[in-house]
Formats: sequence, C-alpha cells, structure tokens
Amino acid sequence: MTNMNMYSFRCFFLSFMLFVFCAVSPCTAQEIKNPAVDFNRDWKFFLGDEPRANMEKYDDHSWRKLHLPHDWGIEGSFSKAHPAGFGGGALPGGTGWYRKEFTIPASSKGKYIAIDFDGVYRNSEVWINGHFLGKRPNGYVSFRYELYPFLHYGGRNTIAVRVDNSRQPNARWYSGSGIYRDVKLITQHQIHVEHWGILVSISVVNDSIAKVKIELKVKSAGVAGETIEVKNLIYDQDKKLVSAQLKTLKLTGRITTLSEQLQVISPELWSDERPYLYKVRTQLLKRGKVIDTYDSPLGIRTFSFDAARGFILNGKEVKIKGVCNHHDLGALGTAFNVRAAERQLELLKAMGCNGIRTSHNPPASALLDLCDRMGFIVMDEAFDIWEKKKSDFDYHLDFTKWHRKDLRDQIRRDRNHPSVFIWSVGNEIQEQWGKGKDTTGRAISRELVQIVKELDQSRPVTSANNDVNLYNNLINSGAFELIGYNYNHEKWKDFGKTYPGKKLIATETTSALQTRGHYDMPSDSMRIWPTAWDKPLLTGNADLSCSAYDNCYTPWGSTHEATLKAFMNNPIVSGMYVWTGFDYLGEPTPYEWPARSSYFGILDLAGFPKDVYYLYQSLWTEKPVLHLLPHWNWKDGQDVDVWAYYSQADEVELYLNNTSLGVKRKTGDQLKVTWRVSYQAGTLKAVSRKDGQIVLEQTIRTAGKAAKLVLTADRSQLSADGKDLSFVTVKVCDANGIVVPDAHPQISFKLSGGASLAGLDNGQPTSHESFKGNSHRAFNGLALAIVKAGDRKSVVQLSATADGMESGALEIVLK
Ligand code: GAL
Repeated sequence: MTNMNMYSFRCFFLSFMLFVFCAVSPCTAQEIKNPAVDFNRDWKFFLGDEPRANMEKYDDHSWRKLHLPHDWGIEGSFSKAHPAGFGGGALPGGTGWYRKEFTIPASSKGKYIAIDFDGVYRNSEVWINGHFLGKRPNGYVSFRYELYPFLHYGGRNTIAVRVDNSRQPNARWYSGSGIYRDVKLITQHQIHVEHWGILVSISVVNDSIAKVKIELKVKSAGVAGETIEVKNLIYDQDKKLVSAQLKTLKLTGRITTLSEQLQVISPELWSDERPYLYKVRTQLLKRGKVIDTYDSPLGIRTFSFDAARGFILNGKEVKIKGVCNHHDLGALGTAFNVRAAERQLELLKAMGCNGIRTSHNPPASALLDLCDRMGFIVMDEAFDIWEKKKSDFDYHLDFTKWHRKDLRDQIRRDRNHPSVFIWSVGNEIQEQWGKGKDTTGRAISRELVQIVKELDQSRPVTSANNDVNLYNNLINSGAFELIGYNYNHEKWKDFGKTYPGKKLIATETTSALQTRGHYDMPSDSMRIWPTAWDKPLLTGNADLSCSAYDNCYTPWGSTHEATLKAFMNNPIVSGMYVWTGFDYLGEPTPYEWPARSSYFGILDLAGFPKDVYYLYQSLWTEKPVLHLLPHWNWKDGQDVDVWAYYSQADEVELYLNNTSLGVKRKTGDQLKVTWRVSYQAGTLKAVSRKDGQIVLEQTIRTAGKAAKLVLTADRSQLSADGKDLSFVTVKVCDANGIVVPDAHPQISFKLSGGASLAGLDNGQPTSHESFKGNSHRAFNGLALAIVKAGDRKSVVQLSATADGMESGALEIVLK
C-alpha cells in the first residue's frame, strides 16, 4: 500500500471502530457523577492552638463558621511586630484549627473514601474521628488522606486540621496561613484509578494523526486475579468522541499498570494562541458497569527548546512572553478563587503575555486548568530553598526529609496539563555557590532532575540561577538541558559561548520598581534602588513611592525597556518571565516597613495597570496601542516629560491645548516617543497615524477638584454560587468625569443583601488599612471593591460614598 492508501485505510478503520464503539456507548461526553465533590463548605475555625481539638468529641460550637478556601493572615492587621516582617507582608501567622462535621451514608460502606487538600500553609496535621492521618510541612503541595477505614458509616464524622504557621519568617514573601486552597471529598469504588495515576503523553503528531499514550495505574484493595475492563475515551472540545479503546485488565495486586495507545485523526493542536483542549476519560468497568471515572486534560502539541532558535511550538518559533507571579490574589490574600485568578490571566493575556512562572512553588491546581484553557506556557516551579536556608524557619528544615515526596507529588499532579512546558526545581538556590566539599548543589541537582525524569520525560527541567558563572554548582552538575538565567540580560548574547549547545530561558527578568500613578522627573535619569544588592533598603523617596516612568529599578534588575530590547535582540532566548506580573504582598523592595507590598508588578496589587503595561501591549499584541503618560495636573511652567507608547502606527503627534508640539517617530531601537513640555493646564492630546491616516487618539485633561465617584464593574452578572466575583473599579473624578490623579478620599461602601464584600484595595504598597470591612481610601484616583456572590439569585446594589462628593452606585445580577 502507498502511504496515502495506508493512511486512508487507517482512517476508515478507526472510523469503523468508533462507529462500533458508539453503538454500545454514547458518543458525546456525558456528565458522569464526579468522584470528587467540593468539600469547602461549613467548616469551623479557631485562631490559636487548642491541644484537644484533634479529638472526635470536642465542643467547637463557639468557633467561627466559614467556607474554605481561607487565609487567616489577610484578615489581620499590618504590624511591624509580626514575625513574618515586612518581607512577609507584615501580616500575622500563628496557629489555627479547622474542624468539619459530615455524614457518610451507610450505603458508602465498602467504598474508597479519601480527602484531597490542594494546599495548606503550612505544617498541616489532619485527624479523622480522632485518628491521626498525617502531617505535611510543605505549604504548597497537594495531598490526600484515605478516610474509609476510620469512618462512621450512617453516622457523623469529624475531620480536624491543625495548621501551624507560627515559626516565622519562613518565606521571602507573603505566604498566607490556613487551608487556602480547595478541599475535595473523594468517593470511589475500591478498584479505581490511583490518585494522579495516569500519565498521558503524545508520541507522534502530524497533520493527520496524533498518537496518545495512556499509562495507567489501577489501585485495588481487592483480591488479585480479578478482571476488569478499562475504557479510554478521547473527546474533542465539542464533547464529541474521537477515539476509544476497550481493554481487559487482570488485577495483579494492589497496583496494576496498563499502557495503551490511542489515536486522534486530524488532531487540532494546542497553542498559546488557540489552546484547543481534548479530554481523556478513563473508565473502569466491572461486568459491564462503570465503577470508576477519571478525566485528564489533553492538549496535543509538539515542542522543543533549540540552542539557536529558542522555543519551538508545533514547528514554529514562539517567544515565551511570560511573567512570574506569587500566589496571593491581592486583597483576597492567598485564599484561592478561580475568578480572581482568571481575571489576572485575562489582564495578562490582553497585554500579550503568554507565559506564567509559578514562582517559587507549585500553584493551585485550578490555576493550571485556567492556563490550559487560556493558553499560557507555564514554568511550574518546585522550590525556593534546598538544604541551605534563606530565612530561619523556611523549607531548609524540611528539605532533607520531604523533597522527594514533595517533588514527586507535584510532577504527578501536574504532568498532564498541556500548559506546563518547563519544570523548575529551584529558584536562586543557595547551593549555586560552594567549593570543594561544599558542592552539594551538584548532587542535589542530579537527584531532583532524575526524580522528574522518572515521572515525566516530555519536558525539560531547569533551575533559575542568579549567578550564571561557570562555577555555579547547579549549572555545573550537567543535569539541566535548559539553563535558566535570572537577570543578567547583558550576558544573554554570550550564552552560546559560555554554555555551548545548551538552551537558554530567562527564568526571571527586570525587577523594575513602580508605584502606579507616581512620576519622578527628569524621566531619563535612572534611579537604582537600593544602590547595591547588599546595601540597606534606605534609598528612595520620602513617601516610599517609585516612579512609574520605567526609570527605577533594582541593581540586579533592569528597566522594562532595557530588558525588552535585549529580548528582541537575542533570538536564542526561548522566553522571559518578568518579575512580576502583579504586585504581591511582602517584599516591598526598595523599602522596608511601613511599606508592606511589592513595587515590581506590571499591574498593581489591585490589578490596575501601571503605564508599562501598555509598553508590553504595544510590543506583544497586534492590537493598535496608544498610551500617553503622565497625568496632566502639574505646576504652571514646570517641565513635564510626556511619553507615548504606541504601535501599528508610523508616528505620534502631540497637542497641548490644540497647539501641536510636534510629530515624533520611534527610530532605531526606540520603544517610545517623548517630549519635554512646559506645563499649562488643559488638554494634552496624542494622535497616532499610519500612512497619514489616524489610527488612535488619546486625550488627558487637567482634573479639577474631586467631585464624584464613578463605579464600573468588570462583570455585572455573576453566578449565584457563593464564589463568583465582580471587580468594581471606583474612579474619583472631578465634575467633568476626569480622574483626579492624586485623590485619596476615604470611601464607604454599601452592599445590599445577596452578596458580600470580599476585599477592598487601592494598590498602594504603604497602606495599612485592612482589606476587609466596608471602607477604604482611594489611591492616586482609584479604588477597588471585590464583590462576592452569595448563593441566591438576586440583584444587588453596590454604592460608594465619600465626604463632599456625589456617590456612585451600580447593580450586579446574581443568576
Ligand atoms: C529575585 C528573586 C525573587 C525576588 C526578586 C526581587 O532575585 O528570585 O524571588 O526576590 O529577586 O527582585
């Protein structure tokens, strides 16, 4: 047979098989009862230690009722005295207890019942009905405990969790405290797919076919010799069955493995631009009856890292235009919320970002689901610390005992996500340095990479190095095929000579510093704060601000502009992850207390873009951009530097009060155009043109006195599911609706029933106001209110008032 005939025959055969399969099972993905149910509701919480709270019979009636995910740290007040320090966000840690009562029906006897924690920060200990189930020091890993041997069937059960985040500092950023990610209750047949027991990998992909290998572990408490059937089904994005296979499996013991290969004809490929998702549904059947169902995501794509061409996705060179993020969600603290994470990703996507580094720890599982769906290229990171510490009580205390299990669990949990492309086993690890006997970094590197490779061979492993010299023990270990550079962008060009044949990823870049809406002139003089990496954090502005002109950065970092230029000029760099996408709690470099959150973000803590957001957008998207800065409220006659970021146009003309100040074009490697203007109140207008035709216009006006509050919601319809969020921006405007750039009135919020205020913020890194409650100041003209849906369908009203101003209001529909 010719190749073509062979191919047609194969297609015919597969279609025939699917037809036969469909005759006995439905061909669209039916919703099957999920073995994992949300177990977040109706917990009780006590802040403090209570040695007897692990017991089954314990009077917890006075404890606070709440739903998870929960971060008790974010509810506390900022104080210099908290042991986490300003680096940890100046919020409290401590010890807390959670308890939950639940019933298990008598009919569940004989089933496999377990509980899954997606993340508990940290040192969690768990008891069921007084039986100790285990301890997990690492606050970022996911873990399961089997409950079924200890349950009261047909009766009440109590789960108790002690969380100990009292020994601080244990992180270089805000960690949060508590059961801050999802909890699920798992109910399965005793014969079931083992927890994280499926590896889906793709061996061949071309236009006509993709071969999908499924390696499966079936767990069984039953007798060896029993026979079951395993059905693997692949559904496309429209839930249509596209591939299926049925096999008989003889169980050989506690774990039985099975490996099989399915084919997808004319596969749709997953990419950052078009993240096409299939689903693999694995079903176990006993005498024809489905006894277990396990779903795995499937994105069909090929990729490689190339020493000369960088990152290749589906045969094409693609730049990873990424950001690093910590796990807090601003005013919500670390309590994970899908919509809050989705909003962050939406804002980043609109900027042209296509990559996320989960610095410096495994993320919430649901974040990876979002990245799969939204098209992000994820670097999934394991550790910030190995054996050598960065702070007194950090993971170095647990590394020796736990790193193998923690890393294995991370890889097994995350390896089927199509969005994950790179594993990082460490950030700026102290073991980079050390000579003679002190070169443990080499052996640890090899061990960690081997652990990853045993579980997943499809992705490269890297480490994020801030010292990229040849003596670096991690790089020297030879274990890493992809070399991660943090900063050091001036050394990218020599990479091929320094590390011949190796591949380069800029694991972390930039660390520029900005306060949204604050501008220090002259804009072309650079502030390098602190003056050196080992100098105290004492330099800077008296009001603890940093300039938003992209003229302020750390000595180890660089401006956004300088980094972007180096990135464009060095095609061997597969991608870069900017430090950071969003401001985060803690690490307020270049300041100390009273600052309490970072200045590094392209967006501030509330999610309001700083000006550089539009620099990225102008380079990383196809959309026409014109962004003018700063605001237009200055002193008469003052020299003001005006910048414009623009794209999809040849030039920009600037007008002040209708008088042209000239036309400017980016020349050479310029990424913006600038004017120095003698200030006059009024209207500053920029017009971008291509081939003489207007592309965009932007006008900024001098604002008068703050007169009214104007509210806009990112979403005015929410699901009444007790979780969904609307992010409401409050603009402090003058009588003409112009934002007053330095306004900071105290705003009181009122929300009618049916929803609650999950958080208030303004993006100011020095504010000590609580994120909770119903009153908050604006900062540089803006404030944010996060409205959380209740469980009932209703229409809620949010109003905002401030002294001497017209109030603002809006409605949100809960459906
Ligand atoms: C890096 C480090 C990050 C963060 C950043 C601040 O060296 O990897 O975690 O501390 O500096 O600039």
